[in-house]
Amino acid sequence: MRRAFAIGLLSALAAFGAAADTYPQRPITMVVPFAAGGPTDVIARIVAEPMSQVLGQQVVIENVTGAGGTTGITRASQASPDGYTIMMGHMGTHGAAPALFKGLKYDPAKSFDPIGLAAGTPIVIVAKKAMPAQDLKGFIEGLKSGGASINQAHAGVGSVSHSTGVLFDSIVGAKPTLVVYRGTGPALNDLMAGQVDFMTDQIVNVAPQIAGGTIKAYAIATPERSPSLPDVPTTKEAGLPDYEVSAWNAVFAPKGLPVDVRAKLVAALDAALKDPGAKRRILELGGTVPKDAEAGPDALQKLVEREVARWTPVLRSAVDANP
Ligand code: MLT
Repeated sequence: MRRAFAIGLLSALAAFGAAADTYPQRPITMVVPFAAGGPTDVIARIVAEPMSQVLGQQVVIENVTGAGGTTGITRASQASPDGYTIMMGHMGTHGAAPALFKGLKYDPAKSFDPIGLAAGTPIVIVAKKAMPAQDLKGFIEGLKSGGASINQAHAGVGSVSHSTGVLFDSIVGAKPTLVVYRGTGPALNDLMAGQVDFMTDQIVNVAPQIAGGTIKAYAIATPERSPSLPDVPTTKEAGLPDYEVSAWNAVFAPKGLPVDVRAKLVAALDAALKDPGAKRRILELGGTVPKDAEAGPDALQKLVEREVARWTPVLRSAVDANP
């Protein structure tokens, strides 16, 4: 009996090892939980190409939208942990969502095998070009007096634009009308067309339009100005020091990957972020490339745990204070 068990175990381990050795044998799906063209999609496509080169199989982007990104992340979390489904999550789906999204079907800190941080994405307060205020102070005054007549775009409860927008509204005491989109890519189109008034969004989505003058940027919510947007003041310079917030995008897999498969994905992302073209693109768009200490699965797991712990009380009190 023992002999048969040993043979069975050895053949299982051999098969397991063989699977990992030949991984990947077919294209890998990277679920992006927001609409194409938005910041999450942009970061995903920047890293997917060099990852494909390293892995020898195409990393194919699949946009699965809705519910502030939780539809796509839930679906990806329930996929087989075989390395053929990964996802691009972020500070919203894996940090803010538990505080704001009732009945979340995954636990950011337990339902995934973290692969690694892909990019830091500072938050910018942007408005339609026709917005009359010339500075953040004037914009906030108009926002408070305008009340519900002002429309604020976001990508669904718990998304980055929603959570950072709710925080902004709470700090300044504004009550705009929230307008939901399947991503801030489509929201930006409406902002450029003047169909929606403002939003708080990730720099990698809005930097080209700010530079091109098709939308207004009142401030960036980081301690220092962005080298990509040198004329945009920080929130501190603009008189709103309490509003300092930055987002991030990161690659996850469903929980339970074979160890060697996970190692290959971690190495592929690491190589992608060292690819000169990918690094340049992220930096050009105002994003930041992870420092060594921020890279890899262990650092990402700790980041998720910190972010959930940080955002839950902040957002719950923001909503309570400004229902
Ligand atoms: C997007 O990719 O559309 C954004 O990440 C949505 C959001 O989280 O605001």
